[in-house]
Amino acid sequence: MSETQPQLDRQQQPEPVGLALVGHGVVGGGVAKILTEQADLLRARTGLAFDLRHIVVRDVSKQRPFAGVPVTTNWRMAVEDPRVHVVIELVGGTTVARQVVEHALSLGKPVVTANKSLLAAHGPELFALARKHDTCIAFEASCGGGIPIIDALSRGLVANRIDALVGIVNGTCNVILTRMTKNGWSYADALKEAQKLGFAEADPTLDVSGRDAAQKLAVLAGLAFNVCVREADIHVEGIDTLQKTDIALAGELGYVIKLLAIAERAAGDKVALRVHPTLVHQDDVLAEVSGSFNAISVYGNAVGHTLFYGRGAGSMPTASAVVADLIGVALGTTPLQFKQLRVYPDSTQPANVLPVDDLQSRYYLRVTAKDAPGVMAQVTRILGDKSISLAAINQREANEGEMVPIVITTHLAKEGAMRQALKEIDALPNIQPATVCLRIVDQPKEFAGG
Ligand SMILES: NC(=O)c1ccc[n+]([C@@H]2O[C@H](COP(=O)([O-])OP(=O)(O)OC[C@H]3O[C@@H](n4cnc5c(N)ncnc54)[C@H](OP(=O)(O)O)[C@@H]3O)[C@@H](O)[C@H]2O)c1
Repeated sequence: MSETQPQLDRQQQPEPVGLALVGHGVVGGGVAKILTEQADLLRARTGLAFDLRHIVVRDVSKQRPFAGVPVTTNWRMAVEDPRVHVVIELVGGTTVARQVVEHALSLGKPVVTANKSLLAAHGPELFALARKHDTCIAFEASCGGGIPIIDALSRGLVANRIDALVGIVNGTCNVILTRMTKNGWSYADALKEAQKLGFAEADPTLDVSGRDAAQKLAVLAGLAFNVCVREADIHVEGIDTLQKTDIALAGELGYVIKLLAIAERAAGDKVALRVHPTLVHQDDVLAEVSGSFNAISVYGNAVGHTLFYGRGAGSMPTASAVVADLIGVALGTTPLQFKQLRVYPDSTQPANVLPVDDLQSRYYLRVTAKDAPGVMAQVTRILGDKSISLAAINQREANEGEMVPIVITTHLAKEGAMRQALKEIDALPNIQPATVCLRIVDQPKEFAGG
């Protein structure tokens, strides 16, 4: 905060920190509620008082529960008000939100944001702008909702070399997958229910395509590995093509399917980055994470395995993270940290990303084959030729000539080899394309810290 901004005085009434809240929707509404209803608690715990000076929205005619705070559509006026010391951006997206953030930073005003899309797309430029104007960006709410994972990675675990980060970071997908697993529902039915309950948007594409998780992984992996990660660096597959048959078959093998965001340290200073539906063993803690909850496993070389669990979205959990950021900014700890730490994307090198073909996993394959002599042998020969060794193979009984699923699990193999093998398998005369291929991730063996 600049010299003109209020100084913390613990003895007397603190001079209030003036705020512009740009966006008063799900998260902005929660922030206004905490600031209003918990003002005394916040003051008692931190010595700070906040003064919400403007609420900026798109539609001023909507009913808002907070009287006394001017509501406007004019974000520029709100940001420029000299009585506003911190700007909270909770609009979302990368157009107006970007303008708001750039304008606030160029005036030297700190920004608190929950906007992972904006950070994944324009993080390096925005952080550089903040540095140029001697201010900062706080973004705890951008990943994991109320889970303090940004603080953990940038401060609490700073003594560690992080070896891997594996997370369930999209609540919508986890709600859908939980319903598919527990109720045996199809993807379409589970999505419909998630939409009805408010866990999925009318247009769920950003979530179910895996992009939302990839944007969060870009932010998290950057902090974990001291590199600059762009969304395009991440191999992404969503849950929208997942079939209930595979959830059931995985269950028979002792696995639960989760959408995982995975960042791992790889040989030669490389980082492996991916988001995809993943078979997680039922004994793994991540298998237990249900519904809208998020969980992020972080493996540090000193601390070993840590797990961060909580509500990954929603009005009040996300607002909890936004208000924590406000306090960090107002206390001066966040600006200091921003100045000192070399973990933000404007002060780190672009990630040296492991090529997709070199990604390693175990695999689950569901090959649909005609029950004819020699088919199984042809499939296993193709896999063997690519040095992909089988862990298990299972074929249901069927009448000769019928199509049957053959379920195969493999030991660790490279993605490139598997893709080549799948091409050849799907080209076999007695095989019905396209073979279903999912990855199996075993924790903690694969990711055990040093
Ligand atoms: N929802 C969650 O659980 C959650 C969790 C973590 C992070 N986030 C992030 O938090 C941010 C906000 O999400 P949200 O769910 O709160 O969104 P939301 O409910 O859609 O609210 C968006 C707010 O921005 C306002 N707005 C939209 N366009 C505007 C414009 N051009 N000018 C001024 N105001 C405008 C809207 O005004 P009106 O009220 O007039 O429509 C609304 O108040 C996003 O970056 C999101 O990714 C959300």
